[in-house]
Amino acid sequence: MSSKTTMEIDIRKVSASKINTIDFDKLTFGATFTDHMFFCDYVDGKWQKPQITPYEPFTVDPSTMVFHYGQAIFEGMKAYKDENDDVWLFRPDQNFERFNKSAERMAMPAVDEDVFMSGLHQLINIDKNWVQKGNGSALYIRPFMIATGTGVMATPSPRYRFAIILSPVKSYYSGDVKVLIAEHYSRAANGGIGAAKAAGNYAGQFYPTKLANEQGFQQVIWTDDATHTKLEEAGTMNVFFRINDTLYTAPTSDRILDGITRKSLIEIAQNEGINVEVRPVLVHEIVEAVKNGTLKEIFGAGTAAVISPICGFSYKDVYYELPKVENSFGIHLKEKLTNIQNKLIEDTFGWTVKI
Ligand code: COI
Repeated sequence: MSSKTTMEIDIRKVSASKINTIDFDKLTFGATFTDHMFFCDYVDGKWQKPQITPYEPFTVDPSTMVFHYGQAIFEGMKAYKDENDDVWLFRPDQNFERFNKSAERMAMPAVDEDVFMSGLHQLINIDKNWVQKGNGSALYIRPFMIATGTGVMATPSPRYRFAIILSPVKSYYSGDVKVLIAEHYSRAANGGIGAAKAAGNYAGQFYPTKLANEQGFQQVIWTDDATHTKLEEAGTMNVFFRINDTLYTAPTSDRILDGITRKSLIEIAQNEGINVEVRPVLVHEIVEAVKNGTLKEIFGAGTAAVISPICGFSYKDVYYELPKVENSFGIHLKEKLTNIQNKLIEDTFGWTVKI
């Protein structure tokens, strides 16, 4: 382990693991947690000694600030087990950097690299039996930070808790995803918090997504707040469009999350000789392309699902079905990326980090 992963942590372990009570073939995404959790409190302007304890509730005051003003951020990461039972993280440096960018935007303190990386490495090492091999199995890692100061004054909290919890997951299959292109609602605005992984960004999506679900669509494709003419994200993911043999995805901005799956797919695609254009993607060009048969694929890209293919979209009350393609870029890129993550092929990018 590097010096950034060996920080001293107070460790209290469970007396008996609950792992034998878990049916790893029947996991609902994000509903089962491992035996232990990590946390570290920020008090009087500094991070205190971190702890690993049994996974258990936090007891907090009802006026705890996170409940009132939503000062909360998180990350989503995964760990994978290879054929030799070694456990690997995928680009944890990127999650760490993004976490602290989110923290800055939400007026929260930066988490020290030692705290973040030691927490990840030592917690996963203790619960490594929970990382299953093969078939898309992984350990979903949820680092998060909440405001733990008390009182209902609308100011940044003086205290925070940074924590990490772990959830074993199976490959995420979302089925045929039909999406509604947003014509009224937005997930983010210029100058807002869309680029941060702030909890409120997700809560704000629930209502428009519920309305879309009621009309038979699983997700919303979010458009820019000012004109609703630019296609920006899909559900909780970044989004890619394939017209002919070029992949298009929107540039990151105040409104768009700098997705780690997104940036990895762009690099893999370019490395495979696939033409990728990072530029604003307009609703009207996608409607035009589906009408003239050049729109081949749309897929969401994120940590949880990796790639989630979209089979059709609705815009201005017209539903457009996408053709079935033989040589799907989405399927090909997902296979490449998950093979790198699971150490089934050589990681020529240097993205994987051993626990
Ligand atoms: C991701 O896939 O990257 C996510 O953030 C999903 C999470 C909101 C469940």
